[in-house]
Amino acid sequence: MKTTLSIIKADIGSIGGHVAPSTQVLDTVRKHIHLEGNGLLLDFFVSSTGDDIAILMTHTQGVAHPDVHRLAWDAFQAGTAVAKDQGLYGAGQDLLVNAFSGNVKGLGPAVAEMEFDERSAEPFLMFAADKTEPGAYNLPLYMAFADPMNTAGLLLGPEMTKGFRFRIMDVNYTQGDRVIELDAPESLYDIAALLRDNDRYVVEAIFSRSSGEQAAAVSTTRLHNIAGKYTGKDDPVMLVRVQKNFPATGEVLAPFATAHYVGGFMRGSHIGPLMPVPRQTGTSYFDGPPIVSCLGFCVHEGKLTEPVDVFAHPFWDEVRHRAATKAMEIRRQGFSGPAMLPYSELEYGGIVSILERLDKQFRIRPAAKPTPVAV
Ligand code: F6R
Ligand code: MG
Ligand code: MG
Repeated sequence: MKTTLSIIKADIGSIGGHVAPSTQVLDTVRKHIHLEGNGLLLDFFVSSTGDDIAILMTHTQGVAHPDVHRLAWDAFQAGTAVAKDQGLYGAGQDLLVNAFSGNVKGLGPAVAEMEFDERSAEPFLMFAADKTEPGAYNLPLYMAFADPMNTAGLLLGPEMTKGFRFRIMDVNYTQGDRVIELDAPESLYDIAALLRDNDRYVVEAIFSRSSGEQAAAVSTTRLHNIAGKYTGKDDPVMLVRVQKNFPATGEVLAPFATAHYVGGFMRGSHIGPLMPVPRQTGTSYFDGPPIVSCLGFCVHEGKLTEPVDVFAHPFWDEVRHRAATKAMEIRRQGFSGPAMLPYSELEYGGIVSILERLDKQFRIRPAAKPTPVAV
């Protein structure tokens, strides 16, 4: 029996701005999945990070199954109705179309899915980030799966020394899925050359080169590309299988201690440090900082254990302090230079009209004629 893990997440409205969903909305989503998922799902877990609700589901239907996607879509619709009743801000924000068409990909919600034969024990991590973009996972994944400075298992774990295959997507291409597969360690520099650019090249999946098994799945949705205008940052989710033939939990978590700078933050248009937080943490300072939560589970014959909230550990308090300092430091320079994203990535159109208006006011000054020098 193959088990499928599906996370589908959406922002369907929040309290106090783009901060956090209400308990009633979360309960509605949970109840919908509980009642309607009977017979389809083996298990599920609903959680929130910032203003996003993530539904983790286990089943045997394989990835991109219309019934599973519809279930999540309908749960978000039910939640949206409550969000509207309560007057939450941005109610239904990520449900970009009125009708469901078989797969939530391209409709607004973010999706990460994996189908596999369960190992005798199957630990995995579920990540959810808010106020940032899918490329926020590029650096942590590179460090966890390709860098022996971070992952001792690449040197010490016999099943890992062959390395991993990265599938990377060009998320700027909107006509279809433009992907490339590159092997670490041979193509390390090529992988780094792509992953440098978080806005454009995004790790979509990672596979073990010794067994071919999938280790990681990341949501690669670009809401901006789907809607053609700003609808909120993509706020990505990710699944990572850990231990044995994959990096250990701690090796996957360690890169998050960097609290690296990512795109997102206020109005999806700035750079801020990615702060690891416990689940159900909202956002605050400058609509951020960008946050990431991580829950550890084991799945056995499709049944989930209770989650362990790994970023709730005291170790991460120090990282959070450092992230707060980094956030305030970059905010000191306001709109200037790298504090704000480049023109092409700005999520709000206001500046476009300012620049268009100013463009007309520019004039070309004739070059001054050189004064002849007497000889
Ligand atoms: C970023 C985000 C927020 C909003 C900001 C303005 O992803 O969600 O920073 O962009 O609060 O929101 P609106 O335009 O809804 O007033
Ligand atoms: Mg939002
Ligand atoms: Mg969000």
